[in-house]
Amino acid sequence: FVVHLVASFFSKLQEDPTKKVDRFLYAMHLHDDQLSDIAARFQAELKKGLSVESNAAAAVKMLPTHVRSTPDGSEKGQFLALDLGGSRFKVLQVKVREGMGMRRGGVELVEKTYPVPKELHIGRGTELFDHVSESLKDFIHEKNISLEKKQPLAFTFSFPCEQATLNQGLLLNWSKNFRARGLQGKDVVQALRGAINKTGGMDVEVLAMVNDTVATMMTCGFDDQYCEVGLIIGTGTNACYMEELRNVDLVEGDEGRMCVNTEWGAFGDDGALKDYITEFDRDVDAASNNPGKQILEKMVSGMYLGELVRLVVLKMAKLGLLFEGHVSDALRTKGTITTEHVAAMEEYKNGLNNTRNLLVDLDLSPTPDDCVAVQHVSTIVSFRSSNLVAAGLAAILTRIKQNRNLRTLRISVGVDGTVYKMHPQYPKRLQKVVRRLLPECHVRFVLSDSGSSKGAALVSAVAQRLALRRRQ
Ligand code: GLC
Repeated sequence: FVVHLVASFFSKLQEDPTKKVDRFLYAMHLHDDQLSDIAARFQAELKKGLSVESNAAAAVKMLPTHVRSTPDGSEKGQFLALDLGGSRFKVLQVKVREGMGMRRGGVELVEKTYPVPKELHIGRGTELFDHVSESLKDFIHEKNISLEKKQPLAFTFSFPCEQATLNQGLLLNWSKNFRARGLQGKDVVQALRGAINKTGGMDVEVLAMVNDTVATMMTCGFDDQYCEVGLIIGTGTNACYMEELRNVDLVEGDEGRMCVNTEWGAFGDDGALKDYITEFDRDVDAASNNPGKQILEKMVSGMYLGELVRLVVLKMAKLGLLFEGHVSDALRTKGTITTEHVAAMEEYKNGLNNTRNLLVDLDLSPTPDDCVAVQHVSTIVSFRSSNLVAAGLAAILTRIKQNRNLRTLRISVGVDGTVYKMHPQYPKRLQKVVRRLLPECHVRFVLSDSGSSKGAALVSAVAQRLALRRRQ
């Protein structure tokens, strides 16, 4: 409404500038029937990935995580933790106190962020892990952590890994902005242990390696027993959930549940989303590190949202629909519009002003109508992102409901990730659409701040609790 008012004020008798954007980006508007269609396609992918016959050919890998239980609040212990693969690399000390819950200080963090130089993302894998273990050593010294007894360590590693146990995992492929050489197909925990030995002077035992989605679910589950889904919308996007073990063909056993890391970012890699892909998605993919891979991720996550907006604005300018046809070098340059810009353009009060400042910084001379139009481009691109996530979640929640033969489902979703945390309207939009698509589900969204860091320690704590119980 505000956009409307401002637009009509400036453009007087001219057409509302958002209309031309709507027409231009028609294919990015996803109506509820299309979202239900996408949810149905994704449900088929879930089945395909879970079944032993079709798993090898499945785009969505549905990786068993060997996490069999969410926390019950009785966990305790002190852990070192590493969080690699999100927007920042962090080393942490996590203290878990029994029976306190997350909000009452049951989990205490001491953390330090270590920059990872860009060269290491794309250099040799051993160099990346040397950097990880040297940072760990620095942290242990700086925080005066005693090495008199062996320190248990939990590792959040936010890439697809095939795990035969909790403390082992073969890297299937890199995603996002990482592609270090020599690690694909290798056991990442082994690589970490090797680097820790090489650095020397540390006595640590790697207890668990988990994906960030799993860590996020566990963090939220420490407080909320209904939390059985973990969701990340950050640099990348992904979700995990508790599946019935009898449906996880790749793991023996029929009793109980196991958390499955869907790796939904790869949805569409086999063409399943071809009806919804636009020319801008194709361009983003073609210019990426991993063409043809992580198709959903490239439509949704923070690493690509700004670039999608830039490509749309560039094309509209070239067609004479913006800036009187003027195009600047900055607008032509990859990466000049970021997700932070997208979030700023959609701020409630300052959005339009932020849009103008960004365009001026890009050496453009926007009219007020241009600003309204570009802000609307940003809204459509980020709305499509939250709509696609809503469709994926709808598929997962429907599956959980069917698994359990329920007519209604009460469930909580733990969420972490920079896009969800930073974009002013993202959570509200996502929640609204999920509730509209699934009126029979009572879904609670719980922001799991630092969930991806804390959760690995909780996985270790749960594993220790279960091991203790088995020994008793
Ligand atoms: C990418 C990774 C996945 C991770 C997600 C969010 O999609 O492949 O493992 O969970 O990013 O960080």
